[in-house]
Parts: sequence; C-alpha cells; structure tokens
Amino acid sequence: MSEPTQPQFADLGRIVVVIPTYNEKENLERIVARLRTALPEVHVLVADDNSPDGTGDIADRLAAADDHVQVMHRAGKEGLGAAYLAGFDWALEHGYDVVIEMDADGSHQPEQLHRLLEKLRTADLVLGSRYVKGGSVVNWPKSREVLSRGGNVYTRIMLGVPLKDATGGYRAFRASTLRTLDLSGVESKGYCFQVDLARRAVQAGLRVSEVPIEFVERELGDSKMDQRIVSEALWRVTVWGVQDKTQKAKRLLAGKKSPDHGGW
Ligand code: GDD
Ligand code: MN
Repeated sequence: MSEPTQPQFADLGRIVVVIPTYNEKENLERIVARLRTALPEVHVLVADDNSPDGTGDIADRLAAADDHVQVMHRAGKEGLGAAYLAGFDWALEHGYDVVIEMDADGSHQPEQLHRLLEKLRTADLVLGSRYVKGGSVVNWPKSREVLSRGGNVYTRIMLGVPLKDATGGYRAFRASTLRTLDLSGVESKGYCFQVDLARRAVQAGLRVSEVPIEFVERELGDSKMDQRIVSEALWRVTVWGVQDKTQKAKRLLAGKKSPDHGGW
C-alpha cells in the first residue's frame, strides 16, 4: 500500500462508523470499500444481527483483511435501534471520540461523510439531512417520501424539535454526546430510535446541526421497514409529545420559566 495520506480529521480524534446489518450480502463489501477509500482514517464496526443470508461471514472476511474493520455478531434480529445501542457501547468502551451511524445499503454516501465531520467541529451531534437546502432523495417511491416528510412534520409538531430531518439515519455523534444522553433509558427498537436520540440531544441543550445529504435509495436487497416499525414510531412520538406538553403545562401552572427553547 502507498504511504497513508494525512488524516483529514485528526483533530476530532478516533472515528468509528457503526454499520448495522441484516441481510446485506449484496451491499456490505461495497460500502466498506467506499468508506475506507473516502476516509482511510476511519474505523468500521459492522453490527450484524445473525443475518440468515451470511452477511456476518462477509463481515468476518472483511475484518480479517483490514485492521480498521471489526464485527459485532449479535444473536438475532432486534431492530436497528438495539444494534446501534450495542455498537455505541462498544465504541465508547474502545475509546472512540466520534461515532457515525451509516446504513449498509449505499443510501448514505461515504463520499459525503466529510460534510458531517466538518460540521461536528462546532456541534455535538450532526444530522445528515434530506430536507434542508441542498439535501435530496433519489429514487424513493412517492409513498415512502410522503411517509418520511409526514413523519418529520408530525415530529416537529409533537416534539417541537427545530429539525428538518429528525428521522434520518446518517449521523455523527461526539462520544461526549452519547455519554450525556443516558442511552440505558432508550427503549426504541426500530427507526424511531433516530427521533428518540435527536429529541434527547435537543432537550439536553446540546448543539444539534444539520448538513445536506443526498439519500440514494438502495439498488440491491430489501428495506427492512415494515408496519411494526411505522406503528412504533407513531405511538412513541405521540407519547413523547403528550409527556412533553404535560410537563410544560405543569411548569406553566407552577409559574416557572420553561427551560427549553429559552422559555417564553
Ligand atoms: N443489525 C440490524 N438489525 N440492522 C438492521 C436491522 C436490524 O434489525 N434493521 C435494519 N437494519 C440495517 C439494514 O441492514 C441497513 O444497513 C440499515 O439498518 C437501514 O435499514 P433499511 O431497511 O435500508 O432502512 P430504510 O432505507 O428503510 O430507512 C432508512 O431511512 C430512514 C429514514 O427515512 C434508515 O436510515 C432509517 O434509520 C431511517 O430512519
Ligand atoms: Mn435503506
């Protein structure tokens, strides 16, 4: 191999990209290769839920050939949220300073990771955002886009979080952010995990920023989105919203100034 180039983000410390996988045999090798080319300094943790299609074996092969790639084999399919929580624990235990969330299917382009990392220099959590200026979605069926945009509008109304894309899954966390968020209290199993963490970060008063990304729908394999995942997101966001509003009302009645969003 040629002489490694100077790391672009040495100032941010050690960076690990956590990639959750369930049946991604057509995609895993390609995404890891793109990532390692785009930013040779980053490490990769594949968190595989014992995929029946053999994704875990592919991950093992990649790890054997590259000391920047590691694999976490989990017992079975427990949802994207659970896989990320296990990956975050691993990353914190192993002393990483920055932890990235990235899908395996190519929707989150490794070539755009530098945008998130540049922004992280002045933020605690950076969201890759499809719905800020410059962001976009390529090749989604209309029904999925309506669901995603609707989910974001509902989230903003219910939770009052000032974010355009609170449901997206391309993110950069400082390790200090993950330590602040009390991850042991996170119960979200499916994709509402993303909303859960964004909400916790905003409520903790952390600096949450969005940068535009181009989300490209997968070409190979299948999305794991199903009715259960949508239902969980809907009921959890509704419950959080009602809880937040009740607490706010109680504070108002008690005559105290609301701590979030600078009060009245
Ligand atoms: N380990 C593990 N366990 N991985 C999973 C599981 C699971 O139960 N479910 C999904 N994954 C992995 C997939 O293999 C893929 O790498 C990634 O999580 C995203 O799954 P997709 O099924 O491709 O998600 P999507 O394209 O429908 O949804 C994406 O966009 C949503 C917002 O619109 C994801 O980025 C979601 O996180 C995001 O909320
Ligand atoms: Mn996908």
